[in-house]
Amino acid sequence: MIYLDNAATTMQKPQEVVDAVAAAMCSMGNAGRGAHAASLGASRTVYQTRERLADFFHAENPKQIVFTSNSTESLNIALKGVLEAGDHVITTMMEHNSVLRPLYELEEKGVELTIIKSNLQGTIDYEDFEKEVKDNTKLIVCTHGSNLTGNLVDIKRVGEIAKKHGLLFAVDASQTAGVFPIDVQEMQIDLLCFTGHKGLLGPQGTGGLYVREGLTVRPLKVGGSGVQTYNKKHPVEMPTALEAGTLNGHGIAGLDAAIEYLEKEGIDHIRAREQEFMWRFYNGVKDIPNVKIYGDFSGGERCAIVTLNIGDYDSSEVSDELLMTYGISTRAGGHCAPLMHEALGTVEQGAVRFSFSHYNTDEDIETAIRAIKELATEE
Ligand code: ALA
Repeated sequence: MIYLDNAATTMQKPQEVVDAVAAAMCSMGNAGRGAHAASLGASRTVYQTRERLADFFHAENPKQIVFTSNSTESLNIALKGVLEAGDHVITTMMEHNSVLRPLYELEEKGVELTIIKSNLQGTIDYEDFEKEVKDNTKLIVCTHGSNLTGNLVDIKRVGEIAKKHGLLFAVDASQTAGVFPIDVQEMQIDLLCFTGHKGLLGPQGTGGLYVREGLTVRPLKVGGSGVQTYNKKHPVEMPTALEAGTLNGHGIAGLDAAIEYLEKEGIDHIRAREQEFMWRFYNGVKDIPNVKIYGDFSGGERCAIVTLNIGDYDSSEVSDELLMTYGISTRAGGHCAPLMHEALGTVEQGAVRFSFSHYNTDEDIETAIRAIKELATEE
């Protein structure tokens, strides 16, 4: 099987991650819920991972890192935890439903929403953020990299705009965490939402939220915390304030091993390899008649994603054919990015997304290029 659906989840994980999860499943108690060895061991693992993530994203303090189950949960906490009726929020057409749907829900509760338009290449005009700022604007939220086109957003630049206008800045780093360097202080990010199972190479069901020190976020859920049992209210201290219930300790142990692996390998090296595969594939298919590629390939850095269509061929049929005839796994359809498809004009057809990992091989890429050539000729 040739796995080219790494933007959905990285399927191949470092062996260290698999081993760490298996070891945790044989030994881990409940973090922060006891004084015996199994519980203390769990607490140590959780704390160590928080520290690693804080270093990785250059957070001021490990307590500003909250564990969640994925980016969607992080985004729900971040958006619903800072926005109130009467506030105005700015986002973009590049967003995934994990940003859009919480915002639509908030809109029904009286939050004003502005969505910055994207062009046909799937990029945005940064000046539009400034043009849309109003007296009641509280937050800009945007993706770091589109899950559909792979186009990157210059989040340092958006962070500067947000700060110039005294706004909060939230980033959806689902497609970039673990691959592109993210420095929350340098990029002036107040809320960084990330998942563990994509570029970070950790297990599914792990993720996190960075909250800038001094910013208070209302919790989405309250409950067991392991401390202040007789208090009717959930503790307000970070990170407990935003972590109710038993954490995914087994997954966090895997995430810890994953970040250790990334530090050892170096994300620059991993990114360079992914990018090499992406460019090789892009160059191999871009001139094939009938093939239409979406996104900005004008030369700057981008996520290791190539999304295309072949003539009028339905994207799901192409994806099925790739799987059945060539054993290639891709993702077709809407990719939970409705407005991006609207901007690209692909709502009906969808598109076939190829997304690469440093674990892919030259042969994987050659087979994928040959497959597109053959399918485009057949069409
Ligand atoms: N958001 C993931 C994707 O783009 C699942 O496929």
